Amino acid sequence: MEHSIQEALHTPVMVDEVLHWLITESEGWYVDGTVGTGGHTAALLSRLSPGGKVLGIDLDHTALAVAHERLSAEAARLTLRQGSYAQAHLFLHELGEVNCQGILLDLGLSSYCLEGSGRGFSFQADEPLDMRFDPNHGRPLYQILPHLSRNALTDILVRFGEDRQARSVATAIYRAATQDRLETTAQLADTIRLAVRGPLLTKTLARTFQALRIFVNDELNTLQTALERLTGILRTGARAVMITYHSLEDRMVKQFFARESRDCLCPPQIPQCVCSHSAAFKILTPKPVTPASEERMQNPRSRSAKLRAAERL
Ligand SMILES: C[S@@+](CC[C@H](N)C(=O)[O-])C[C@H]1O[C@@H](n2cnc3c(N)ncnc32)[C@H](O)[C@@H]1O
Repeated sequence: MEHSIQEALHTPVMVDEVLHWLITESEGWYVDGTVGTGGHTAALLSRLSPGGKVLGIDLDHTALAVAHERLSAEAARLTLRQGSYAQAHLFLHELGEVNCQGILLDLGLSSYCLEGSGRGFSFQADEPLDMRFDPNHGRPLYQILPHLSRNALTDILVRFGEDRQARSVATAIYRAATQDRLETTAQLADTIRLAVRGPLLTKTLARTFQALRIFVNDELNTLQTALERLTGILRTGARAVMITYHSLEDRMVKQFFARESRDCLCPPQIPQCVCSHSAAFKILTPKPVTPASEERMQNPRSRSAKLRAAERL
């Protein structure tokens, strides 16, 4: 689907808050691990001094192309790479850097993916049921669905969708995928509509699509891998800023920072520390930062956003 740059742009969430928590030095390398169409990157570059540079990473090469065109005037200070934010250490290494001054992850789906990618992220469009952020890796959802057992599907929808109707929806999708054809978003949406009626239908549609997207892209495992690698890519005093839109992601970030801000992980009954663990982070936001009411009104997609920040010790 062809889109003009303006149409393709995603409204970045909590821009002032991101800049406030992320920037400690106006020079050096910052990583935007989910550059998307470049909203946060543009704001970051405008706040950094001429010696400040951004490594922008995204799995979606089409979103990167939009960011590249939009930020062409900043080419000297911006390096864009197609890949996963969990590989940020490798991209930094290619640039001759071991670590960076800060990293931002703005997880989830952009308006661009939802409305402009043509890859089946939205239940409101009729597109191939693909749902991969990177269409050159793995298999599209329509090829995977017929091979999932009813239990596996139920587990995916219960865990990642957190919807009350998950079990009946999983049964309906299982039947449709194994008996009929389930190759487009319209077919998936119709299957869900037949299984669930009533006032919560729209929520169930959104949650089911979200759950399947999280599954196809293995989003939670990727986030966990990236968190475990954070310590290695942030120099002392550098910060990590994480924006999540899903309770499981927020919990993972919260638990990671909580664990890594402790000097000892021994169970309380052990009188003397035997774990030799030492804190790697200081938590900067004991409670998640959420968008101001004005932003929530202007950008409904920001409503579920939670920002957490921590500083490398
Ligand atoms: C909410 S959007 C980011 C929007 C961006 N902050 C902006 O201002 O335009 C999330 C982006 O993360 C990307 N993404 C998802 N998983 C990724 C991963 N493992 N590595 C890199 N990018 C990923 C998606 O392709 C999408 O462009």
